[in-house]
Order: sequence, then C-alpha cells, then structure tokens
Amino acid sequence: MAESLGGECDVVVIGGGPGGYPAAFEAADHGKKVILVDEDPRLGGVCANRGCIPSKALLHVSKLLHEAKEAENWGVSFSKPKVNLDKLRDYKNRVVEQLTGGIGQLASARKVQTVRARGSFLDSNTIELTQDGKSVGKVSFKQAIIATGSSPIAPPMFRLDDDRVMDSTGALELKDVPKRFLIIGGGIIGLELGQVYAALGSQVTVVEMLPQIATGADRDLIRPLQKRLEEDFEAIHVNTKVNSLKATRSGIVAEIEGDGVKSPQTFDRVLVCVGRRPNSNNMGLENTQVEVDERGFIPVDAQRRTSESHIYAIGDVNGNPMLAHKATREAKVAVGSILGEPEAFDPAAIPSVIYTDPEVAWCGVTELDAKENDISVKVTKFPWAASGRAKAIDRPEGLTKLLFDPDTDRVIGVGIVGPGAGELIAEGVLAVETAALARDMAATIHAHPTLSETLMEAAESAFAQATHVYRPKRN
Ligand code: NAI
Repeated sequence: MAESLGGECDVVVIGGGPGGYPAAFEAADHGKKVILVDEDPRLGGVCANRGCIPSKALLHVSKLLHEAKEAENWGVSFSKPKVNLDKLRDYKNRVVEQLTGGIGQLASARKVQTVRARGSFLDSNTIELTQDGKSVGKVSFKQAIIATGSSPIAPPMFRLDDDRVMDSTGALELKDVPKRFLIIGGGIIGLELGQVYAALGSQVTVVEMLPQIATGADRDLIRPLQKRLEEDFEAIHVNTKVNSLKATRSGIVAEIEGDGVKSPQTFDRVLVCVGRRPNSNNMGLENTQVEVDERGFIPVDAQRRTSESHIYAIGDVNGNPMLAHKATREAKVAVGSILGEPEAFDPAAIPSVIYTDPEVAWCGVTELDAKENDISVKVTKFPWAASGRAKAIDRPEGLTKLLFDPDTDRVIGVGIVGPGAGELIAEGVLAVETAALARDMAATIHAHPTLSETLMEAAESAFAQATHVYRPKRN
C-alpha cells in the first residue's frame, strides 16, 4: 500500500472488499480522484482473504477426495489419499495471495490511492485515518462510499478465549484436522466448511436450532444435499441448541439441548457460524447524518445513498443478502449515481449458491417466498435422473426447477441442486432479469449432452411434455 496517508479526493471508499474495490475502480475509471481505505494490508476483503475464495479452494479439494472414493463404483480404485495439510494450506494461501495481489496491482494501475488504515468519520466531509489506534492522517472528500462489510456473530456463551472455538476465519486457517468437530449453525458457512473438514477426516456434528439446515432454500433443493451430508457427517441435529461451551484439557465440552441428543459431548474443535452482523460501529457515523438501524445496518435508497445524500453504503453493511456479488453490483450503482447517471439497484434476481457437493443454487422467487407472500406460481421440475449428462457423471439426484407467472409463463424463479448448480444458475438469473418466457428458454438450443439442458426441458414442461419426461395428463 502507498505510504502517503490521506489527502483530498473526490471519492473516498472505506473497505476494500468485493463492494469497495470495484467501486473505487469504477470511480477512478471515470476520472475521479479516489482514495481507498482498508485496514487489511491486502485488498479483497473477507471474500478474497478469509471467505469465498479460500473456502472454494478447500471445497475443490474436498470434492476431489469424494470423487476419488466414488470412483470405485466406476471401476477405478485409488489407495486411501494422504493429505499433507501444510501443502494444502500453502495451496489455499497461494490462491489468496495471487488474487489479492492482482487486485492491488489493478488499484495501482488505475491510480487509486490505497491507504492501509482504519477510517472513521470526523464529520460529513472528513475521515480520520488510524493505525493501531493512532491518528496517521485525514481524508477530505466530496463523496464517500461505506463498504465495510460484516463480521461473524459471536454469542457471549460461545466466547471462551480458546482457539479451539473458532469462527469461519479460524476454521479456514486449517490448523489441524480435529477428530471430533462441532459446528454450531447449519447455514451456508457451517455446511460448506463441514464438508471440507469431513472430507479431510473429521467426525462432524452440526447443531442447528431451526427445524432444517440451510433455511431459506426450498426443501426439495436441500433434500439431495441433506442426504449426502448425512453420509459425510457424524450427526446433523436440527431443532437443537448448544447452551454452553466449556474448555477442558480433553476438549471443548458442549451442553446440547435437543430431542434424543446426547449431552454433554466433548469436541476437539468447535466452529461457531450463526450468522454475521454489519460493520457499522466505531466508525464515527454519529458525527454525520448517516442513520443506522437497530440491527446495525445502514439504510439506503435505490441509488445506495444513506440519509446523508453524498455518503453511500454498499454491500453487507446496508442489509441482506450478505453476498459479494450483490455488493459488486451496488458498487456500480453507487458510482453511477455519483456520476449523475440514472442508476438504481432493483434486481429481479440475486443468485444464492451453497458451494457444497452437490451445490444448491436459486434466484428470483422461491416456492417458500411464493407461499409466504401469496404469489401464484406455476412450478415445473426436471429430475436429473432423466438427463444423459447427469447419468454419465453418476449424479442423478440433481433437480432443476422453474417458477413461472401462471398467466404469462414468464420465468420468475429458478432453483437447481446438483454439481455445477452455481454455474448453471447464471442462465436462470439471465432468464429472470430479461423476463424470458418458458417458450424462450425451451426454444434456446442447449448443447447436448450438458446439465444446462435440464433448464430447457424444465421450461418445456411449462406448456408441453419435456422430451425426456412423460407425465400423463390428469383428467
Ligand atoms: P447463516 O445465516 O447462513 O446460518 C446461520 C445458521 O445458524 C442459521 O440456520 C441459524 O438458524 C443457526 N443458528 C443461529 N443461532 C444458533 C444457535 N445458537 N445454535 C444453533 N444454530 C443457530 O449464517 P452463516 O452460515 O454464519 O453465514 C453468514 C452469511 O455469510 C450468510 O448469510 C451468507 O450470506 C454469507 N455467506 C455466503 C456464502 C455463499 O454465498 N456461498 C458462503 C458463506 C457465507
């Protein structure tokens, strides 16, 4: 990062994650003088340094371990794999270094001044820069974009000050492969990292307080994942709570409350992943007119302006969904608004992806949304058991489904479970955003044999018989 701290600029961006750095780049590309402030020495935020990217490097390896085992069904046997944890960690770290290094180079090439410091507002046009609590400079700005992201929630009863109790950052460090591994929270992070550790050899127990894992996704999409996780994990307890954790020499003792669940149980490591909270505190917002709601989110309008109109907020800090790609799109909208363009953040579909094996992906209206909000929908499903490509890769458990407006046959939601669902969903997002009709998707030629054909055939089912599924008409 540059040595000169602070100065004057058109746009200051606080936070260098997938919201902040695209915002800084976009503003610089349009001739603005930009200062990007982040306390991390490496740009990229949680996503590139401690989240999306390192976890995907590890999930890539865990999928390989799975497939090596499954290859026996296809007549290929490998001996039991030996995992060199140091090398695996190096690989993951290399991925992160290359990516974050590249972002740093792009910032320099665009003449974005990057400052490694913590930024907090002194007033509505000045930010103070601090390092280790000491003031090291100031930035005066015309417009500011707050892109400070979120942090893991750490409920007090799980704060032991013992490094065997980890959040996602700690779990991604991959210090060792614990024999008995407890995961508190059966959300996206818990399931993804649970699968990584299970593949490496941990006995994983997931405790989820709600009646199901991956709340928010439609049940039929989660079912194939749940089935696989039940094979991979030691136990998945839903409707269950961890009431307390205690550090002992032989492990972390968890008091668990749930029907038929043994308690207490002792684990070698515990991952707490019960959600994230916005990073809006301790940044001097009280010295501005920027409002913060009771949950810590910064409310914004369609242009991502806060209640102080020259200060914008994008990404996790302004509300759910806390997803990198939502932040990146908001960056373009906020900068467009600064440039005076008629921009608004109004997506018809933001894809959600759980990068487990199988992957689960959805966008637009889900069946759960439809039920909750009384939206009438027509649903068609194409089971992967009828897909030649899914059969060829031995993954017939997948499912592709489409939700349509029943009057117009316009695609309003898409859900997919199966390997590669996270890539396949892109077609669904495009269909929803561009208001495609069932006939548009069905008449679009998809390469054969591909898993993408399942989208085409699910669309065909909306007004005809899909070629590879025959459902006799009910009278
Ligand atoms: P989450 O909100 O996805 O899941 C947390 C789970 O913990 C919920 O199911 C909740 O019911 C459960 N829970 C809460 N308190 C509990 C307790 N005391 N005992 C047992 N269960 C409890 O949160 P997670 O997994 O921490 O992820 C945070 C955010 O990070 C997500 O909202 C997501 O937006 C983002 N993320 C996205 C990823 C992706 O897009 N693939 C990957 C990882 C994170």
